[in-house]
Amino acid sequence: MVILLAAGAAWGQHSSLKLTNPFQTPEDRAAGADVFRAQCASCHGVDGKGGHGGPNLTRGPFKHAVSEEAMFRVISKGVPGTAMPGFTMNGARTWQVITYIGSLGAGSAAVRGNASRGAKLVAGLRCAGCHEGAAPDLARTAERLSLPELRLALVNPNAEVAPEFWYWRGRLRDATTVEGRRLNEDTFSVQVAERSGRLRTIDKSDLAEASIEARSPMPSFAGKLSETDLDDVLAYLESLRGGRP
Ligand code: HEC
Ligand code: HEC
Repeated sequence: MVILLAAGAAWGQHSSLKLTNPFQTPEDRAAGADVFRAQCASCHGVDGKGGHGGPNLTRGPFKHAVSEEAMFRVISKGVPGTAMPGFTMNGARTWQVITYIGSLGAGSAAVRGNASRGAKLVAGLRCAGCHEGAAPDLARTAERLSLPELRLALVNPNAEVAPEFWYWRGRLRDATTVEGRRLNEDTFSVQVAERSGRLRTIDKSDLAEASIEARSPMPSFAGKLSETDLDDVLAYLESLRGGRP
């Protein structure tokens, strides 16, 4: 996705932040379990494994709910043309059910994959080269993301990119160009880390034109990792989660 912006008025319109689930405590999970039993189990089974007209929700890949944000949409709007109805519950309830569903999937890749083989793969693939530096910490990422989201991040990194990693390109009034990762932006200026590592603060009044692209600096591992390798890497990432229920 590329959003082209003229300098000036259009700035600030792309402050779309990635939605993350704010309801992830053990209490939220328990509340979500209650909702699930009352409203979802009739089709998805008490254990979430499906078989009563609804699909298994304990393991991916998901057809629609590829991220927590997408799952939120599925639950509130339903899947048109299928038996999956939309539910008009308040947002907190919806997030709690999502937390519960996420906990059903915990361990599924760990069961399939081999975490210690995954650790070796991750070492060989130089993930740490980025993830111990500018990129997000892998343990924290594993903690925050569901299994389908982790899988998606590996096979299609561009699918969801946090705004602080968006790729920024600007042409100044003096015809020079600046590009790199957008670190910060306010009404008057934008801060960019150039590939060389140099930090630049650009005054928006100096800008003739700017564009921003929600493109990840992370390479896709689709086709580079077999399904087995991918399960092993996911099992390793899951093993980094501290004490997740
Ligand atoms: C009347 C049956 C029914 C009920 C009740 C129901 N679902 Fe579903 N659900 C389905 C069906 C059928 C699908 C598959 C839709 C399709 O074919 O794409 C589905 C799909 C889903 C998906 C998407 C799975 C994917 O592959 O992306 C999620 C998530 C989901 N349901 C969650 C819930 C939750 C949470 C509840 C309760 C709040 C619930 N469902 C209640 C029938 C139901
Ligand atoms: C060239 C640098 C680079 C390499 C190599 C790399 N990553 Fe990333 N990765 C990033 C950056 C930057 C992000 C954050 C932007 C985004 O969400 O795509 C990211 C995002 C992720 C995310 C999603 C994080 C989130 O918060 O959404 C996961 C999971 C991940 N990487 C795992 C890995 C694994 C596992 C490897 C090795 C197999 C790897 N990465 C290799 C740079 C890299």
